[in-house]
Amino acid sequence: MQGEVSESVAPSVVTIDGPSGTGKGTIAAIVAQKLGWHMLDSGALYRLTALAALNHAIDLKDKIRVAAVAENLDVEFVTGVDSQTIIKLEGQDVTNDIRTETAGNNASIIATIPEVRAALLNRQHAFLQKPGLIADGRDMGTVIFPDAILKIYLTASAEERASRRYKQLKGKGLNANIDSLSREISERDERDSNRAVAPLKPAEDAEILDTSDLTIEEVVESVFVLLQKYGLSESDWNELA
Ligand code: C5P
Repeated sequence: MQGEVSESVAPSVVTIDGPSGTGKGTIAAIVAQKLGWHMLDSGALYRLTALAALNHAIDLKDKIRVAAVAENLDVEFVTGVDSQTIIKLEGQDVTNDIRTETAGNNASIIATIPEVRAALLNRQHAFLQKPGLIADGRDMGTVIFPDAILKIYLTASAEERASRRYKQLKGKGLNANIDSLSREISERDERDSNRAVAPLKPAEDAEILDTSDLTIEEVVESVFVLLQKYGLSESDWNELA
């Protein structure tokens, strides 16, 4: 109606893309928590799809059946103690199971299937709720949220990424070997960057942040500097949260 102030301001979205081991997940979780915003860990959806397919004895190359698994994914993200997210697949806690390198590689295999990506589209868009969303992945800024107010692309040297992954897996009590990790990371980068649909690449309007020599706190600080640069001031997000 004329003269009426519209209350339907769309929630804001900030995307954080980049290859594995750049700290995307950690940074996205911290920034989302500080802002009081929602978070989308899109990689988890690909990891869960691969795990669910394998649990149902479906060949990861069977495009139609894997896409059906993605479409019907029975997943719950539950906030547990210490604000940690517990991920349940068909009622089972798979929080740690989906974090192995094998799970990451399987995710990257099924992520090349266009029908799988299409099946996960609405589920990803559904995360966009007020007051805002931090979306982490490979194609958040290029494909899923092209209108994001800020698109960040994190990079880091291959050595640094392998070493971070090693520490992360060890910290979770999981098995890890630095040489095979490096090999798997570069294979996954190669597959993610060269696939036909939604390849890993920075959006044209992305802010690129090399995290090789930065601590987590320094990266978070840089993200907040960027938020201000893009017009989101501290008072805005406190008000929104
Ligand atoms: O980010 P994460 O390591 O959990 O992602 C696992 C895999 O899922 C990636 O290597 C990539 O192949 C796929 N992925 C994707 N698009 C996204 C997020 C993840 O293709 N938005």
